[in-house]
Amino acid sequence: MRKIHILLSLIVAIQTRILFLSATQFSVPESKGAKILVLPLKTQQLPSGPSKLPFTHNVTLTVSLAVGTPPQNVTMVLDTGSELSWLQCNTTQRDRPAFDPTRSISYTPVACSSPTCTTQTQDFSIPASCDARNLCHAVLSYADASSSEGNLAFDNFTIAGSKFPGTIFGCMDSGSTTNAEEDSKTTGLMGMNRGSLSFISQMGFKKFSYCISGSDFSGILLFGESNFTWLLPLNYTPLIQISTPLPYFNRVAYTVQLEGIKVSENLLQLPKSIFEPDHTGAGQTMVDSGTQFTFLLGPAYSALRNEFINQTGGVLRVLEDPDFVFQGAFDLCFRVPLNSTGMPKLPAVSLVFRGAQITVSGARLLYRVPGEVRGSDAVHCLTFGNSELLGMEAYIIGHHHQQNVWMEFDLEKSRIGVAQVQCDLAGQRFGIHP
Ligand SMILES: *[C@@H]1O[C@H](CO)[C@@H](O)[C@H](O)[C@H]1NC(C)=O
Ligand SMILES: *[C@@H]1O[C@H](CO)[C@@H](O)[C@H](O)[C@H]1NC(C)=O
Ligand SMILES: *[C@@H]1O[C@H](CO)[C@@H](O)[C@H](O)[C@H]1NC(C)=O
Ligand SMILES: *[C@@H]1O[C@H](CO)[C@@H](O)[C@H](O)[C@H]1NC(C)=O
Ligand SMILES: *[C@@H]1O[C@H](CO)[C@@H](O)[C@H](O)[C@H]1NC(C)=O
Ligand SMILES: *[C@@H]1O[C@H](CO)[C@@H](O)[C@H](O)[C@H]1NC(C)=O
Ligand SMILES: *[C@@H]1O[C@H](CO)[C@@H](O)[C@H](O)[C@H]1NC(C)=O
Repeated sequence: MRKIHILLSLIVAIQTRILFLSATQFSVPESKGAKILVLPLKTQQLPSGPSKLPFTHNVTLTVSLAVGTPPQNVTMVLDTGSELSWLQCNTTQRDRPAFDPTRSISYTPVACSSPTCTTQTQDFSIPASCDARNLCHAVLSYADASSSEGNLAFDNFTIAGSKFPGTIFGCMDSGSTTNAEEDSKTTGLMGMNRGSLSFISQMGFKKFSYCISGSDFSGILLFGESNFTWLLPLNYTPLIQISTPLPYFNRVAYTVQLEGIKVSENLLQLPKSIFEPDHTGAGQTMVDSGTQFTFLLGPAYSALRNEFINQTGGVLRVLEDPDFVFQGAFDLCFRVPLNSTGMPKLPAVSLVFRGAQITVSGARLLYRVPGEVRGSDAVHCLTFGNSELLGMEAYIIGHHHQQNVWMEFDLEKSRIGVAQVQCDLAGQRFGIHP
């Protein structure tokens, strides 16, 4: 359990990050008076930073908002895979944007006698404790031994012109970093899972949606109802709930039921039980905006790998190098001539969920590994990895495969809605121009 929790936090902290919400914010009164908030998204590429882990990332998904009184602008990574939001509060660290609690008259640290420090943090995987000043202290630890610590606190958040007073977050003042480059661009992280302390739970919205453009690194994030006629119908897949806690099952994640995987129209021959959590809870499928690519458990990964090689044998040349594994989990790579004018047409891969499906076009299946060249060939790897190579026992659907899909997280009806759309056009409907 610890292993999984820590590893997931790690992915959140290190690998996640995809969209950048520009500073301009829009509030669109639509949907028959029901209040919604809409923000533009823009992916921001960062140079790959040093990482002690066998995976890296260079794209972040962040949202810009204001915190405190008077308001201070902050940029937070949007992460459906974690609960507690936090801000970097140590203003003495150079090259790092920080929130300065001493300049906010509405900043209030949480006392450790407060119910927030005890009862409300039950879902929070890293429990809070009491510090010497009787304040609620939180330590976030990651698998590579980096960590961050500080106090739980309340302050008033402002998003797209709307106020969210008394929002609980971690105000972190010390910690080691795993990616200085990335940290230099963001102030913190916005936890969006189903736990009671997560940002979305505190905001009181019953739904949120995002749509990540596949072409121009833009997109939108929307809080509230998204039943626009141009978008409907959404196909829904239920969120999996379990009544009794199991050691390896993350109950506050967005867990869906994967039922199959298709390569073009070929459904992989796999028993359904392969996609179901076992008696320990291991093997759940999580939708995570904080992870870049997608991870499958070994048997499903092997079947996908074999079928993909089979269907692309005529157009792709496998990289015959057993020692090369991209980011520790992606071991199906190909040699593509540097001088080739375009990628060959590849079969689409579909993730079939109960009630809904996400189809990833062939053009989005391979990722060119920066800096890897063999002779006159570049190295491109399949963006589905083997989670077991990273010691994880879960399926994780990363944001790379959520591009051009409207993703609605419906907390009230406990389901996720998807619709294949062009997210740059969806953004234009809200008057958001990348
Ligand atoms: C904060 O962001 C807003 C736009 O969202 C901008 O108008 C304002 O100047 C920014 N304030 C600071 C101190 O950077
Ligand atoms: C960053 O990622 C993009 C694709 O997302 C890739 O094209 C680019 O080469 C990467 N840059 C570095 C420096 O890793
Ligand atoms: C901050 O939020 C609190 C509620 O938690 C409210 O009483 C207070 O007026 C707000 N302060 C400002 C300056 O908006
Ligand atoms: C803030 O960061 C500096 C530099 O890393 C460190 O020396 C200091 O102890 C930190 N402050 C707190 C309160 O942890
Ligand atoms: C969207 O939902 C709101 C609130 O539930 C409802 O009033 C409205 O009629 C719905 N619109 C559509 C197009 O379904
Ligand atoms: C790949 O194709 C070959 C020949 O067409 C077939 O024998 C083999 O079973 C296929 N493998 C998979 C995993 O489908
Ligand atoms: C790429 O280079 C190879 C030799 O290095 C050559 O045979 C091939 O025709 C070239 N292809 C294109 C599209 O230029």
